[in-house]
Amino acid sequence: MEVIIQPNKEAAASLVSRVIAHELRANPHLVLGLATGKTMERVYRNLVRMHQEEGLDFSLCSTFNLDEYVGLFPTDPNSYRHYMQHHLFQHVNVDRRNTHLPNGIANDLEAECRQYEALIQRFGGIDLQLLGIGKAGHIGFNEPLSALRSRTRVKALTPTTLKQNAALFGNEEKMPRRAMTMGVGTIIEARRCLLLATGESKAEVIAQAVEGPITSMVTASALQLHARCTVVVDEEAASHLKETDYYRWIFENEPEWEEYR
Ligand code: F6R
Repeated sequence: MEVIIQPNKEAAASLVSRVIAHELRANPHLVLGLATGKTMERVYRNLVRMHQEEGLDFSLCSTFNLDEYVGLFPTDPNSYRHYMQHHLFQHVNVDRRNTHLPNGIANDLEAECRQYEALIQRFGGIDLQLLGIGKAGHIGFNEPLSALRSRTRVKALTPTTLKQNAALFGNEEKMPRRAMTMGVGTIIEARRCLLLATGESKAEVIAQAVEGPITSMVTASALQLHARCTVVVDEEAASHLKETDYYRWIFENEPEWEEYR
């Protein structure tokens, strides 16, 4: 795992966007794993700008989102399909047929989850998985005690997550109680993982995920097992980390990061 500390939210999101753009330019057929949430909005804004101003080309890439709420139609303004359309897909030249999210209104949710896994395999697996982290330490909607080998499945959302996301639904009562999510096992099979966390509210959980033990209580800690995982944080989200001098030294001295310094 590598930890990159940036001065603020904008700089952190900018670095993540540049890594995605770099990978996409290197491999136009990139299979890109996507996340939703507040933190990612800045990343998508940057990617849209890069498409418009620098011709960043999405025409050959495919995308797989981490998760979708159970029971929401794709047209529902709170669905993650709608989020992706609104923040990214409709502004860039990605082929809609190559954009994938679990279908939250499938009749047979278990079969849908199995098919989603099979589809990821058919596309050759995920090259680059973008991740946020929830206050409960989740990646995707892998809530505390999710098995570290779990696959795509339906999960009940924890009270912490319901509270975190309720504002978007007006109130907590209207929020779906379940979501379909890639499993921790699915996520860590991606060839590269890139996690972005910003703000003071993520500081404690970032410290647990990066410097704490690997535990299903904080599913992001499973990323410590990943051979190529980068965690990008702003100063606020880094504020509970102990080894920041070491992380900064690596970033300053690792040739791979030269173009991002
Ligand atoms: C969403 C997802 C979640 C979010 C996390 C952080 O697709 O997978 O794990 O990344 O809940 O959300 P924000 O950025 O809203 O704090």
